[in-house]
Amino acid sequence: MKYASELTGAASSIVRLMDAVQPLPVPTPSLTVVGTGIRAVSQLTLEAVAAMAGAEALLHVIGEPIQEEALLAINPNAKTMTDLYADGLERSHTYEAMILEVMAELEKGKRTVAAFYGHPGVFTYPSHESVRRARAAGFPARMLPGISAADCLYADLGIDPGEGCQAYEATSFLLHLPPVDPSAYLLLWQVGTIGNWTYESAGYDLSSFPILVDALARIYGTAHLATLYEAPFDPRGNARVERMPIASLPSAYLTPASTLLIPPLG
Ligand SMILES: C[S@@+](CC[C@H](N)C(=O)[O-])C[C@H]1O[C@@H](n2cnc3c(N)ncnc32)[C@H](O)[C@@H]1O
Repeated sequence: MKYASELTGAASSIVRLMDAVQPLPVPTPSLTVVGTGIRAVSQLTLEAVAAMAGAEALLHVIGEPIQEEALLAINPNAKTMTDLYADGLERSHTYEAMILEVMAELEKGKRTVAAFYGHPGVFTYPSHESVRRARAAGFPARMLPGISAADCLYADLGIDPGEGCQAYEATSFLLHLPPVDPSAYLLLWQVGTIGNWTYESAGYDLSSFPILVDALARIYGTAHLATLYEAPFDPRGNARVERMPIASLPSAYLTPASTLLIPPLG
């Protein structure tokens, strides 16, 4: 990584800064769950950098090469848990394996940090569950917020969730069809993996996506404009923003990083 040494230096300064700002020692063992933001390096918070730099065990679920290298520059102990995903394996099994890895480091007596991309508490099960299990086992545990894909979306698309905003995981939305308030924004997460419980590196079977589109068309009509959104992971990249009528969604290009925004009617 081009700026690894700058990042290593910045991390040391940030540790000193945070020691001055929050002079509370982090207990050992303990668990800190952090978010690393979406845009690599630039969306790291100071407190997340300080926690990661001071970790005796740093486990992460990032999967984005620039950010993974950044974490190595911040702490050479950084270790990915994305290798626990396996084709055809239910993601819930992988999440359980991640939680067990985090708990194993705590049980070894280490000051442990688990890092997840975005905000660690937003549509992420192993982060919340690690905190719950660590506390149940008697370890101090905390979660530090990060910049989520939703935060990037509000900024890039110029919307204020205070005007009313509902958010659902797409598969769960399709299964339960909760009542929708069409005067508020609707955010659907994980549309690019809808209907799939397993991890598939070669791409997902999205045959249930048109069923979701039909459900949306019944609420909003086929001509209502929806936006497919992807925030850039690369700090130099641009967001992918595609506006189209709901009727055109079935032919849209979806990836596991796609989020669908349906603006209010009227
Ligand atoms: C398991 S959730 C993780 C969300 C993450 N914790 C956060 O705070 O953004 C994965 C979903 O987040 C959304 N997502 C992840 N990366 C994104 C990106 N770069 N742009 C837009 N949405 C994204 C997509 O809906 C994706 O299916």
